[in-house]
Amino acid sequence: MSPVSDSTNRVVPGPQEPEKTYHPSDGLFTDAHVPDFDAYLAIYKKSTEEPEEFWADVAQEFYWKKPRSGQMLQYNFDVNKGNIYIKFMEGAKTNICYNVLDRNVHERNLGEKVAYYWEGNSPNHHQTITYNQLLRNVCRCANALKLLGVKKGDRVAIYLPMIPELVYTMLACARIGAVHSIVFAGFSSESLCERIMDAQCNILVTADSVYRGDKLINLKKIASEALERLRIVISVSLSMALCVQKCVVVKHHAFRTNSDASNKLQTPWDESCDIWWDDLMDGVSDECEPEWVDSEDPLFILYTSGSTGKPKGVVHTITGYMLYTSLTFKYVFDYHHDDVYWCTADIGWITGHSYITYGPLANGATSVLFEGVPVYPHVGRLWEIIEKYAVSKFYTAPTAIRLLMKYGKEPLQRYDLSSLRVLGTVGEPINPEAWLWYYDVVGQQRCPVIDTFWQTETGGHVLTPLPAATPLKPGSATCPFFGVQPAILNEHGEELEGEAEGYLVFRKPWPGIMRGVYGNQERFESTYFRKFPGFYVTGDGCRRDKDGYYWITGRIDDMLNVSGHLLSTAEVEAALTEHPSVAEAAVVSRPHAVKGECLYCFVTLKDHKEFNRTLMEELKRKVREKIGPIATPDFIQNAPGLPKTRSGKIMRRVLRQIARNEKDLGDLSTLADPKVVEVLFSQRCEAAA
Ligand code: WTA
Repeated sequence: MSPVSDSTNRVVPGPQEPEKTYHPSDGLFTDAHVPDFDAYLAIYKKSTEEPEEFWADVAQEFYWKKPRSGQMLQYNFDVNKGNIYIKFMEGAKTNICYNVLDRNVHERNLGEKVAYYWEGNSPNHHQTITYNQLLRNVCRCANALKLLGVKKGDRVAIYLPMIPELVYTMLACARIGAVHSIVFAGFSSESLCERIMDAQCNILVTADSVYRGDKLINLKKIASEALERLRIVISVSLSMALCVQKCVVVKHHAFRTNSDASNKLQTPWDESCDIWWDDLMDGVSDECEPEWVDSEDPLFILYTSGSTGKPKGVVHTITGYMLYTSLTFKYVFDYHHDDVYWCTADIGWITGHSYITYGPLANGATSVLFEGVPVYPHVGRLWEIIEKYAVSKFYTAPTAIRLLMKYGKEPLQRYDLSSLRVLGTVGEPINPEAWLWYYDVVGQQRCPVIDTFWQTETGGHVLTPLPAATPLKPGSATCPFFGVQPAILNEHGEELEGEAEGYLVFRKPWPGIMRGVYGNQERFESTYFRKFPGFYVTGDGCRRDKDGYYWITGRIDDMLNVSGHLLSTAEVEAALTEHPSVAEAAVVSRPHAVKGECLYCFVTLKDHKEFNRTLMEELKRKVREKIGPIATPDFIQNAPGLPKTRSGKIMRRVLRQIARNEKDLGDLSTLADPKVVEVLFSQRCEAAA
């Protein structure tokens, strides 16, 4: 590939190049870690041909209490050859909290450097946290957790908004060798309970209340409901191992000074279990010796939707994750010490774990930690924050870009965005229109748009451009990161060469890949390794073009992606069928201008039940309560019958086409009752419920 730049940094397509490519690196990256595509290819070659040496070099930057003596990587990806496992630098001892904090403070002299500019939901709330302060706060929290009896290997559930205490708690767990299980604070009490139970957490850390935009949420009430639910399960199962002994409650910054607001909501309180964060930290030492743990000890569990409905607890271990998030952060954002980096994700998702906490801190970076939402108190909030902190590297989701596009250029023109150098996206395929708006309007055609493809399971970026090196094609996540070896397979598991479309898989592990599904090896193997023995299966479809660029085409399992968040159709269906009026439900995705995809639900009611607005509202509420507001259906259609094969399998393809109003349905001969399709078409929802 040899793209040629014109004066606007756009590459003019030649006869062989139907897509326009973009390469806006001229003059912007004089000191880039990877200055051009040839340099990328050379490093990539080394990473795949000499992985031991490659990763040994990366590992050298970190602190090891006990260095590696055995093999760098051991693994099996082939279910026919025994259990699936991945081990990276097993036997070496370290501590990730030490590496991301103490090493910066004591070895790199970054104690006075800002680790986070915390920016609250309200622009009036902000705080600057240096590496020194972060280390001290993390140590206090670590000591406090120890006082509560938390030890190495114990699981701690964290259900907090985007406040500094969230970072303190996760790093405190890492410091003492405990395993954090962070549950996004938008999940319902039922989802929280399910996750606490699955991971058998015995401590929960939450907050009293939180404002999201102008909406006040009583987080503690949701947490208390989750614990109440848990107690009921325990009393039935008589398993005390499921018990949460202590619930630590942070008094949110917004309510410390504003007594009016704090009085609005009652914080439910259980004297035997609940304890205020401030009381717990009172008088606790701000020094804490790290627990020296094995490379392959677990670092965290993070739940992600599964196609069977029950979420999977994705397990990541310490060293592989540390090296991989650190290295990807450095290269993918072309990180330099004077950068101010901002990732708008929530730490409750993997993007926040890897690219707000661990990756940036491992590099000694300064980040913005943002609690709010993009359009509160005004639609220019993100641009205002970029100007305020002179953000140079900005990482967000296509859904946020599409939302902000709706307000046009004017809100951006009020702010100085000249500090920006690199723009990243993650979470779902970015449509070229949003890509171009991001590039033209936000980046003013100066900044490369880095479309990073990855998953909770991959730990870090796996397909991604590098800012100065990779010519960009809007909508393509471009090329593999160092050490990552993608392949495309057809339905029969045959590997496709050159230009091709099929299943995206990986043929070898990289250090950051998941190590398992918590407590369920069988599910780990069947979800990711059984379909195509010898490969990790992403569940995404993918096309490779003639230049070797990868284009993600979306999920090919029963998952859908709403605003960058994966949801399982089965989980939503289970929520709908819990309603006493519903006999059966089938959920499919339908394209949505801002969210990317939204939920379109078909429900078949029990005999003599009436489909009306009240029922629709009840169904929506049911889904919100069971899963959380992100899963709220946009469309609910009354379906007297569902299109099924003679063996009773629902043909989702047909339902998807009805939802999208695609009339050309192809072969329906396998349907038990093809007439049902006509009926569903005639009653399809045009407008959102
Ligand atoms: C989708 C988020 C296209 C994909 C880090 C993947 C993407 C799922 C991209 C993982 C991208 C993520 N282009 N699709 N750049 N990034 N996806 O686990 O379907 O929340 O499998 O991890 O999001 O979502 P998860």
